[in-house]
Amino acid sequence: MASRSPNPVHPADQAPSSLANALAQRLAHLAHSHLTRKLRRVARTHGVSLDSHGDRFVQFASNDYLGLAQHPLVVEAARDGAATFGAGSTASRLICGSLEPHHALEEALAEFKGTEAALTFASGYTTALGTIPALVGPGDTVILDRLAHACLVDGARLSGAQLRVFRHNDPVDLERVLRSEQSRRTRHSTTLPPRSRPAATLVVTESVFSMDGDLAPLQALADVKDAAGAWLLVDEAHATGLLGPRRAGWIEALGVRDRVEVTLGTLGKALGVAGGFIAGSRLLHDVLIHDARSFLFSTAPPPANATAALAALRLVQSPEGAARAEHLGRNVPHLHAGLTRQGWELPPPASPILPLRIGDEANALTLASALRAHGFLVPAIRHPTVARGQARLRLTLSALHQPEHLDAFLDTLARLRPDPRPTPTRNS
Ligand SMILES: Cc1ncc(COP(=O)(O)O)c(C=O)c1O
Repeated sequence: MASRSPNPVHPADQAPSSLANALAQRLAHLAHSHLTRKLRRVARTHGVSLDSHGDRFVQFASNDYLGLAQHPLVVEAARDGAATFGAGSTASRLICGSLEPHHALEEALAEFKGTEAALTFASGYTTALGTIPALVGPGDTVILDRLAHACLVDGARLSGAQLRVFRHNDPVDLERVLRSEQSRRTRHSTTLPPRSRPAATLVVTESVFSMDGDLAPLQALADVKDAAGAWLLVDEAHATGLLGPRRAGWIEALGVRDRVEVTLGTLGKALGVAGGFIAGSRLLHDVLIHDARSFLFSTAPPPANATAALAALRLVQSPEGAARAEHLGRNVPHLHAGLTRQGWELPPPASPILPLRIGDEANALTLASALRAHGFLVPAIRHPTVARGQARLRLTLSALHQPEHLDAFLDTLARLRPDPRPTPTRNS
């Protein structure tokens, strides 16, 4: 028998730590792991440039892909919205905050996405947090792409449904998980709680992945989920306003509108404002206004948000929107080709997100701060946004970047990190 140490320290015997101690320990642990983050104060923004702490930077960091956040028509619409309806919505939509601009925006979003209805939320994050638990719960299953965004994972966890993952962008693996889930259900059918409807399975993916910029094979995923009788939620946060003939998204581009039950979008990326939305059937809308708790129990977004987002949506659909998307469409291969020439291994240039994969967190921070010293802001993305040891610099492009910005960035990067290819050994 193992002898007991004379003074065993059991957690219960330890003096309780003050909150200050616990917080200091947490920060020390983050610093030790190169995971410290800082809020960098920005005094002014001018398109893709910004002033911070007395210096001007060119950023490759925002999700304002079409450069609409400061567009005069969008800013004017925000001003008009506030002047007409006030600064705040004063209550949740069901109490008395369901103002005309919210309805006008939702009708326009539904028309844009080709769905019967749309419902807006304060952010994309709270859209996922409210929607997934409104659709599934204990006894159901959510199957997520392994690289799905944190809001989708958190929404799935909150739902209480069984959580499974499938390999990134792999319909064959999704099929395997669906099959194993079906047999698990058959085995446990007698022990599951009785419910008012058969157990459901919700498959969840992004269409443009936020950290790698690659595209989901939505047709193949839809084939697999249809065969299993599952439902599909697609997060189009980084596709809305950019992809497809009307720039409605990757769902539109692939022609799979009728096979996706739930589309999630954001108003804070290509539309340049803030907020999130669900597009889908009228039935879906009607259930969400009853059951999506982040919609029910929260003050409606400011009306100025809705008027600005509607103006941005009109711009996306206009010839100017097309011209901006085309300019962005030229920026992406320009930067991609320059980076590839420097030896960076990148996914195909399918979206304005280009990841420079570094791996080690400290190395990613070092390169990001060297770039910052030369006037370029590129975020070092680290855990928990990506897995540990998969740190990267995430470059995002905008329609406001000019070829000179891209070339200056490429020159600087080449000087700071001449060639990321492994040096060949003598025998290789
Ligand atoms: C794929 C994806 N979904 C949802 C969100 C959340 O959207 P929002 O920023 O509007 O909360 C993000 C934001 O980064 C995202 O990248």
